[in-house]
Amino acid sequence: MTTYLQQLNNLKEKAIQDFKKSSSMAEFDAVEIVYLGRKNGAFTDLVKQLKDLPAEEKKEAGELTNRVKTELEATLKKQKETFKNEAWQKALEEEKIDLTEPTYPTPERGHFHPVTTLMRDLEDFFSSMGFVIADGPELESDYYNFTAVNIPEDHPARDMQDTFYIKNHTPTSAKASAGTWVMRTHTSSVQVRAMQKHGAPLRAIFPGKCFRNESTDVRHEHTFYQLEGVVIDKNINLSHLKGMLEATAKHLYGPETKVRLRPKFYPFVEPGVNGEVTCFLCKGVGCRLCKNTGWLEVLGAGMIHPNVLKEGGIDPNLYQGFAVGFGFTRLTMLKYGIDDVRLLQSGNLKFLKQF
Ligand code: DAH
Repeated sequence: MTTYLQQLNNLKEKAIQDFKKSSSMAEFDAVEIVYLGRKNGAFTDLVKQLKDLPAEEKKEAGELTNRVKTELEATLKKQKETFKNEAWQKALEEEKIDLTEPTYPTPERGHFHPVTTLMRDLEDFFSSMGFVIADGPELESDYYNFTAVNIPEDHPARDMQDTFYIKNHTPTSAKASAGTWVMRTHTSSVQVRAMQKHGAPLRAIFPGKCFRNESTDVRHEHTFYQLEGVVIDKNINLSHLKGMLEATAKHLYGPETKVRLRPKFYPFVEPGVNGEVTCFLCKGVGCRLCKNTGWLEVLGAGMIHPNVLKEGGIDPNLYQGFAVGFGFTRLTMLKYGIDDVRLLQSGNLKFLKQF
């Protein structure tokens, strides 16, 4: 009997120790099987010895064994419970978000300048019609800016576009010619560059910054933007130009917009036209914006002069083309209702934040 009780006691203590060591539910379950498992648990094994005890001791030993077993089961259940609660608490603790914690100040985010926004929009639009987008230098040779587009030296047409002449400029590219250099007065300067580079047929736009020697006022600025387009191919005529302009005008100012072309002299085109779109404010009725004409002048265009094609290395007997120069700054002002051109370059945040 003493040995039996001794064993029972040892088993109880060992079991309690092992319960305490458990640090996961799986461990609890494993210890439970080791001690209280019905088939091979240590307890079951011990009970098997009961039958070998003398009859008078059996009853007491049996009762004691049962009590210890119930006690152990209760302890294990309680410990499991506590463990579960603690684990739950810990998980909650870890997931806690402190809603009162101060946040970092949101960095101020800028956005595109209205000129850039509209430029990207039109670049997408022209790309969708199969135009490539090309670039030219802002500091341009006198040759590409004037001579190559049929404005010879000493020709009175040069007076139409006074600009900033750059003294003592040494071009870095070996291909560039020495001579007079200017801040380009128009994006038409890219026409001959593109023809020489890509040849015909050609469908391209050249958006960019231009410069002129202007005294500034609400309508004039020394730095402004243009968007030039050329289409050169066999059998190109003015109706292609008109079609393209109408699509552009509708894209910019809505499906009701019409285009009007009237003859105008530009040295690099023949015939040359000046292009107007229906005033989007009064829908053509006449208002302050369109000076009661119902029309807004936004572009110059025409059929590319044979001299310009020749200069670009293209045979004017084989190919024809049209060219158009949009007053891009003007398009932007009209689109966004900006009434002073000088605001665009002012860097004034109060102005820029409106877009
Ligand atoms: N380059 C002209 C200007 O700045 C605009 C222009 C007119 C461009 C007629 C063209 C054109 O391509 O065909 O005033």
